[in-house]
Amino acid sequence: MQWRTPDSTVALLREGYAFIAARCEKMDTDVFTTRIALRRVTCMRGAEAARLFYEGERFSRANAMPASVQHLLQDAGSVQTLEGAAHRQRKEMFLDLLGPSDLARLRSIFRRCWMEELAQSGQEMVLQDAAARILTRTACQWAGLELGSAALRRRTRELTAMINRAGSFGPANWNARRLRRNSERWAAAEIQAARSAEGGSGDVVQRLARHLDTAGRPLETQVAAVELLNLLRPVVAIGRYLVFSAVALEENPSWRRRIASGQDGTVEAFAQEVRRRYPFFPFVGGTVERAFTFADHQFTPGEWVLLDLYGTNHDRRLWPDPAAFDPGRFMGRQPGPNELVPQGAGNVAEGHRCPGEEATLGILAEAIGLLAAQDSWKVPVQDLSISLHKAPADPHSGFIMFREPPSTHAKGAPQ
Ligand code: HEM
Repeated sequence: MQWRTPDSTVALLREGYAFIAARCEKMDTDVFTTRIALRRVTCMRGAEAARLFYEGERFSRANAMPASVQHLLQDAGSVQTLEGAAHRQRKEMFLDLLGPSDLARLRSIFRRCWMEELAQSGQEMVLQDAAARILTRTACQWAGLELGSAALRRRTRELTAMINRAGSFGPANWNARRLRRNSERWAAAEIQAARSAEGGSGDVVQRLARHLDTAGRPLETQVAAVELLNLLRPVVAIGRYLVFSAVALEENPSWRRRIASGQDGTVEAFAQEVRRRYPFFPFVGGTVERAFTFADHQFTPGEWVLLDLYGTNHDRRLWPDPAAFDPGRFMGRQPGPNELVPQGAGNVAEGHRCPGEEATLGILAEAIGLLAAQDSWKVPVQDLSISLHKAPADPHSGFIMFREPPSTHAKGAPQ
């Protein structure tokens, strides 16, 4: 009977990323039902669950995440809230804005911003903070938005708060939503400026501002502003993977050497393993639209479902010894569409799979290559532990690095 289903809110907060998989393991199933915040929810994990969640239009995203998360991440009117033809058409816009030449430009802007940040920084740097600055600059320049240093600081703070506070409740979340409203006002003004500009520069912001919906009309300014933030914020979010990459390089020196020596395929395999092994979104929520049965459970329209992304990336049926960091898993092997799911599953053009995976992998490959090759920054002993109770997770210290003072010994001088 429904009212007998236990409430798992406390267990979810206590167990964090491990919550769904731990119960699946214990009950030897891929599906179970519980309550979160008193609301009945069905949790599922694994490659087949991911396929059913992302393919065949069985789910919508309506009422699938708490407002505290929804407002900070995708927000009203965004591609994630659309379904059917309207979704496919908006998604096409994202895939067009993230086409091959846009991705090449994104990578080269990131490289330049990285070099500039390192050249300006002092003796000590917290990589997590530096990555947020570098990636905000990268994202804005890539989109065609020129910002002065004060505006850049504001945007860095706002975009970072949207990511950091998506998993929090109460005042911290409200404050981040207040910051987000500032960003939305700024983004709306940028869209209006792009619309009134003479000619077409072909910038990302111009192409977005001039995109036409299924009825042949430009997007409402507010919706275009939300989508602009849906390009900028996730680029900044890549900073979390960048810091996890730094941790992984530090803890796996043999891979660092292989990457630094330029061995084919190592950077790409390392980036994939970072996305598999380290925690980002614990799960994604959906509401059943079309009835189906899976693992003896009948899914009915209106049912709230959580798909375990972290648990699927750590499913031992797909990934032997899942806790081990081993980029070798990806050497010469492409994962199937529903196996490696940190950014969703299925077909990117048809469903809600993230359109930013290539951008994420490109920036990560660039960052991993730069981090592996550098030898003037040292990593002191610090607390790099990553708690799975807090989402989004990060290494405790934020990854501190310090610059080695230049050698005072002249070449060949006696030492
Ligand atoms: C840190 C790296 C990233 C992670 C972990 C991530 C994760 C995700 C996930 C899990 C989804 C699926 C949500 C759902 O099923 O409802 C998603 C969708 C989306 N992502 Fe990403 N993402 C990342 C980077 C990016 C980048 C770089 C962009 C664009 C520049 C981007 C833009 C989007 C958009 C627009 C959607 C909505 C797609 C749709 O509803 O069809 N993401 N992302």
